[in-house]
Amino acid sequence: MSVTLPRRYWLTGAGNGIGAALAEEILKTGAHLAVSSRSVASLKVLSKRYPGRVMVVAGDLTNSQTVREIGERIAREWGSLDSVILNAGTCEYVDARQLDASIIEHVVRTNLLASSYCIEAAVPLLRAGTAPHLVGMASPATYLPLPRAEAHGTSKAGLRYLFESLRLNLAPDGIEVTMVSPGFVDTLPAANNDVPSRLSWPVDKAARHIFEELKRRPPEIALPALFMAELWPLSKMPDNGKLAIGKRMIGGQPPIKDQP
Ligand SMILES: NC(=O)c1ccc[n+]([C@@H]2O[C@H](COP(=O)([O-])OP(=O)(O)OC[C@H]3O[C@@H](n4cnc5c(N)ncnc54)[C@H](OP(=O)(O)O)[C@@H]3O)[C@@H](O)[C@H]2O)c1
Repeated sequence: MSVTLPRRYWLTGAGNGIGAALAEEILKTGAHLAVSSRSVASLKVLSKRYPGRVMVVAGDLTNSQTVREIGERIAREWGSLDSVILNAGTCEYVDARQLDASIIEHVVRTNLLASSYCIEAAVPLLRAGTAPHLVGMASPATYLPLPRAEAHGTSKAGLRYLFESLRLNLAPDGIEVTMVSPGFVDTLPAANNDVPSRLSWPVDKAARHIFEELKRRPPEIALPALFMAELWPLSKMPDNGKLAIGKRMIGGQPPIKDQP
């Protein structure tokens, strides 16, 4: 008689926000979960709540050696991964009047380069997994240029291209690839945006929706629906129209830099 093993996930950015809520959804299914973020406290709490099912693989994912070691540990303990959700990321706004390229560098390093290190570590493990699935967190900022989003949008546009290209190249290995575009979900970075509350979702609702949709393995999951319904027609406008919309959105809040 064959025994079905629990599904094995690696989720980054599991310490708070969308990642923490997704971790709960994953663990509810009986799956095993490797969790990463720089801060370790909430990951340890999770591993105590689900004994024997949570592997804490904390660390700064912008450090390629750290990520390599995380991959080696997962390989040693599990030998394979079935799903990898690269959710860790940051959002910092740019003030174009006093452009600080270090913000762009930091955001690209966190959102794009760290994800590429994780992919390097994860793909051999996914190849050994069952019905393997690779998931990345993009942003609707890639649908049209938004003011102050130079760093965030650049990093997520690069990430989108990386995942979409990988979708082609990993298909022969049976690895399916999904991009999630959350905009906007009520977590700390989103709360810094000028988004009307009717267009945003609470984090638990967003995580439930994302996890449910991931079961279908779609190429893209965009949420919340109302936000997307309003954004999508704007993204299809000619460049002059997009420029006019963007100009109307300029002003308001000062640039925000996250904590290193
Ligand atoms: N919320 C939204 O509306 C929204 C909109 C568009 C895109 N997104 C994307 O969705 C994802 C989750 O967003 P969120 O709102 O849940 O963000 P969040 O609440 O800020 O959580 C981000 C997570 O990533 C981890 N992280 C950040 N830098 C890291 C690093 N260098 N190494 C390891 N872990 C790191 C953080 O933990 P530590 O700080 O402890 O490392 C945290 O657990 C992100 O990729 C974000 O860009 C969100």
